[in-house]
Amino acid sequence: MADKVILSFSGGLDTSVAVKWLAQTYGLKVVTLAAGVGGKDDLQGLKERALSIGAEKAIVIDARREFIDHFIFPSLKANALYEGQYPLSTALSRPLIAKLIVDAAHDEGAKVVAHGCTAKGNDQVRFDVAIFSLDPDLRIIAPAREWGMTRQETLAYAQKHGIPVAQSSIYSIDESLWGRSVECGALEDPMVESPEDAFGWTASPKNAPSEPCYIEVEFDHGIPVKLDGQGLDGVSIVSQLNEVGGKHGVGRIDHIEDRVVGIKSREIYEAPAATILLTAHRALESLVLSKDELCFKRTAEEKYADLIYNGRWFSALRRELSAFIDSTQECVTGLARLKLFKGNLQVVGRKSPYSLYRPELATYDKGDVFEHDASEKFIRVFGLMDKTQAKIQGLNE
Ligand code: ARG
Repeated sequence: MADKVILSFSGGLDTSVAVKWLAQTYGLKVVTLAAGVGGKDDLQGLKERALSIGAEKAIVIDARREFIDHFIFPSLKANALYEGQYPLSTALSRPLIAKLIVDAAHDEGAKVVAHGCTAKGNDQVRFDVAIFSLDPDLRIIAPAREWGMTRQETLAYAQKHGIPVAQSSIYSIDESLWGRSVECGALEDPMVESPEDAFGWTASPKNAPSEPCYIEVEFDHGIPVKLDGQGLDGVSIVSQLNEVGGKHGVGRIDHIEDRVVGIKSREIYEAPAATILLTAHRALESLVLSKDELCFKRTAEEKYADLIYNGRWFSALRRELSAFIDSTQECVTGLARLKLFKGNLQVVGRKSPYSLYRPELATYDKGDVFEHDASEKFIRVFGLMDKTQAKIQGLNE
């Protein structure tokens, strides 16, 4: 009896062709798995499509909740932004999909798994590393990395085997709840401003409403739990913020990024909810974390984002950093108020029961309790080394 392969299936050209190619080239029985991690995935449609192309079985999983709770929110608590810009919307979904594939392989008794990534991207790294971190004994096949077909040849293969191909865009697009990634076409010239047709979730700031919109996001231990006073689950909060942020043109990112495989690439991201939540979360942290915690956490955050980008979600260090980050969130409870206006996002207010901002210390007005007479002697000690060095060695300018 033929062995089974679990193929991660998106319904795009490469994974559709892979269904046939895996059966033909390796004689495998193909079971597809499509995971819903975006707002508008048509999972039923993907199931029918996979079966119509020749899959023996098509598994579909609405994984949005797991994606939010176990991948997006931990990353939000870490304020994770790759190279200070990219909220990791694609990168975060890969270890989740890899985990679902490995689970399916165990359930189905398959020893082989497959994904549709090419040899030039980051996603192959993320899938491969996550899969062999979860089960080192599984064999991984990446058809599009192996078959050596150009896009034209892949299209011809699809036609020859009666695989219907959807009208494909000039852009390569990947969507998850945490954002939309766009590359190719005119975007390959880093000097060219992204054409409006590359955007799918956000209004051009020029056409955004001419009245500002205010939003209040409430957090409990670093997790968003309410929007404008209304308690909501994570999927609803993120979906609603993608809508409202998109309407106001918030969350457009133009990034020249450094891929794992040593290539610089240009990607346009639309991440309204991620941009709003990361901004709100940082605003609240600035109120409740000490200067030391903020400073040390920034170093951890950068490493955390790198690990996610590089496909190291299941590494020991990522888990250990998560434990540290979770412990910093103990007092990250409270709310941030934001103003959205024509592509702009501003924090205009923040409050918390654990706020370290003390009016009686900060005020220049009456009610001031700061010990004014403590400052002068403190500064004499604080600046002693600079003073001594200047006296003995002079100012080295
Ligand atoms: N550059 C991003 C990453 O590596 C997104 C990759 C997918 N992008 C796309 N347009 N298909 O995480």
